[in-house]
Amino acid sequence: MADRARVAVFISGAGSNMAALLYASRLPDCPYQLVLVASNDPAARGLALAQAEGVATFTLPHKGLGRVEHEAALERAAAEAGAHYIALAGYMRILTPQMVSRWEGRILNIHPSLLPLYPGLDTHARAIAAGDSHAGASVHLVNEELDGGEVLGQIPVAILTGDTPEALARRVLAAEHQLYPRVLAQYVDRERSPEWLAQQVRERALALPETDEVSSHGMPCFGIVKGRKFAYFSIDHHGDVKTALLVKISGADEQAQLIENDPERYYRPAYFGDGWIGIRLDLADVDWESIASWLQRSWRSVAPKKLTGLMDAADNF
Ligand code: GAR
Repeated sequence: MADRARVAVFISGAGSNMAALLYASRLPDCPYQLVLVASNDPAARGLALAQAEGVATFTLPHKGLGRVEHEAALERAAAEAGAHYIALAGYMRILTPQMVSRWEGRILNIHPSLLPLYPGLDTHARAIAAGDSHAGASVHLVNEELDGGEVLGQIPVAILTGDTPEALARRVLAAEHQLYPRVLAQYVDRERSPEWLAQQVRERALALPETDEVSSHGMPCFGIVKGRKFAYFSIDHHGDVKTALLVKISGADEQAQLIENDPERYYRPAYFGDGWIGIRLDLADVDWESIASWLQRSWRSVAPKKLTGLMDAADNF
């Protein structure tokens, strides 16, 4: 099995969703692992559980700290733990748009309603008061709008006659524990399917001027229109079992240096020679900004002067 995606969970309270994520991650074939549980409340009960289960924890009370400062400390802890995703699980603080944008598409949240119904608080009381037949839970991507990002999965929970918000909340929570691990697993899997990875590369490559895509030896391949190629998307090339991006580099020295510094990620692509490097995309931690820079640099190395000149002008603008 490929590397498991590294997830930090942020909690503020009981952490029962964190526990559900944790125990699911300990079952066979789970595609993610928890690398950190962080909280804004040192008394959050979930912290003790995480510790007892051998998961690293980090706590910083938000009292007396500015929002940006507090959030930056939790973000740093997540990054230092090597997290590639953050799962909010009853984390009761709103993230700044800056943080959301730095982790775009990599922060998930669970919310106790059938979004877009009832964002915010008191969801169960509002569903009962509205006479709804069902309440429920949603897992969604976090964007700058409160409980507003793309919904990745939902589960309805029937409202019973005479239900109180507390009784309903307990049943919704049971449903949440089923939903969150399943949706997180599906999401990290989707993000590392070759089709999804190819699409990410394609979007970034085709954003470069005068670039088109052709197929070469069955690989999606990107080049200057009627000109030279600068990138290949390689899937299991000659049975190497890797999903990778191949881009141009300066030569044998740089190739050797990259491989020495990070032998897991970089490799010498068979049949491509010294002028190319393979960058693995199947390690569950792709930094897409770095991939965009590699593509741009490779594009520059083959683009005619009139195009690189235009790019320089745009960069200096
Ligand atoms: C859960 O019901 C979760 O959906 C909710 O807080 C509870 C946390 O329980 N989250 C929100 O309301 C976010 N707006 P837990 O700490 O036991 O997982």
